[in-house]
Amino acid sequence: MKIGIVKEIKPQENRVGMTPLGVKSLTQQGHKVFVEVCAGEGSGYSNEEYRDVGAEIVEREDAFNNSELIIKVKEPLPEEYSLLQSNQILFTYLHLAPARQLTEALLDREVIGIAYETMRDSLGRLPLLTPMSQVAGRMSIQIGAQFLERFYGGEGVLLGGVPGVSAGHVVVIGAGVVGTNAIAMAVGLGARVTVFDVSLEKLNAIDELYKGRVLTMVSTAENLADIVPTADLLVGAVLIPGARAPQLVTESMVKTMRKGSVIVDVAIDQGGIVETCDRLTTHAEPVYLRHGVVHYAVPNMPGAVPRTSTIALTNVTLPFVKKIANEGLRVVGEDPMLSSGVNLFSGYVTNQQVADALSIPYTPLTRIFEKKLLSV
Ligand SMILES: NC(=O)c1ccc[n+]([C@@H]2O[C@H](COP(=O)([O-])OP(=O)(O)OC[C@H]3O[C@@H](n4cnc5c(N)ncnc54)[C@H](O)[C@@H]3O)[C@@H](O)[C@H]2O)c1
Repeated sequence: MKIGIVKEIKPQENRVGMTPLGVKSLTQQGHKVFVEVCAGEGSGYSNEEYRDVGAEIVEREDAFNNSELIIKVKEPLPEEYSLLQSNQILFTYLHLAPARQLTEALLDREVIGIAYETMRDSLGRLPLLTPMSQVAGRMSIQIGAQFLERFYGGEGVLLGGVPGVSAGHVVVIGAGVVGTNAIAMAVGLGARVTVFDVSLEKLNAIDELYKGRVLTMVSTAENLADIVPTADLLVGAVLIPGARAPQLVTESMVKTMRKGSVIVDVAIDQGGIVETCDRLTTHAEPVYLRHGVVHYAVPNMPGAVPRTSTIALTNVTLPFVKKIANEGLRVVGEDPMLSSGVNLFSGYVTNQQVADALSIPYTPLTRIFEKKLLSV
């Protein structure tokens, strides 16, 4: 198959769809890979590294024109719409439900859009989102530790403390992928850690793993009101799939926090769980102060560590890229995980949630395969 890796043009996006090692495993299997000039630059991969593993380095238009399958990280921006072609497979994070203009443009171009974020495994999990949550969860502690320093506006607390001085208190709300990765980092630094969740199963698992080293609490308004004032660093890590994040930490709770304590609301990409996290921040200007508390609300945290994020993303996407490349378009209808990722198929919306969100008719993928693809 002919596969294109294009440079991301979204502001502050330095990840790339595939590492040279990933490309190597495709060229070794006889696939032709076109990599746009400097596509890997932001993640520290040179054109030579891609060329050395058998890729052809081409201009942007050629990467799009030559390829049956395009691998990206983020959704196409308007200046990319016209580069996409009918029946071309686009494999990337798409987030179509809130994006009417993008969805209509891709329908118009008759693209086959497979979205990383909707691919579900047999247990209903979203494995292609996991690596970015792992990255963000781990980052939340190192970012928090940095902003707790006096010269970054923090209260001047060292999370690990020192002998004779109490360690800082990290409060993690949500014990999913982000939360458990944040906890691991906080424990590693020697902080005191409290975690909240509504799931006793998750709290049990943490209690067993850390043998009481981490305090586990059921997430109720009362428990939060008790503990939030004692936090040096509060991490927001709640997800309710398909819904806006619930505002669990109210403004009045934030007012009880010490001046110079830090909030890293990782769930800000779903609206945030802290009432005073009411605006998005950027890597260029990541924090603002509210009631003396430092607020960090960057919705694309993994963008700060593009090399790690690119490798982590390639680790999870490559098996599916290989599957499509080796078995052809038919596998998109046969493989349950790939099928769950197909949001758009040559002019049809094949994802129920996207169709509902945008009031566009929904067409099940199975119907399309029965009708259109018997010759594939
Ligand atoms: N800002 C970023 O760059 C970035 C990067 C990755 C993920 N995220 C976001 O981080 C959030 C968490 O993602 P995840 O992968 O850890 O999700 P997850 O599904 O693995 O975990 C969410 C957890 O929240 C818990 N929860 C639900 N309601 C709760 C409540 N009322 N109180 C306490 N806990 C509650 C769930 O039981 C679950 O354990 C999501 O919004 C995700 O989009 C942001």
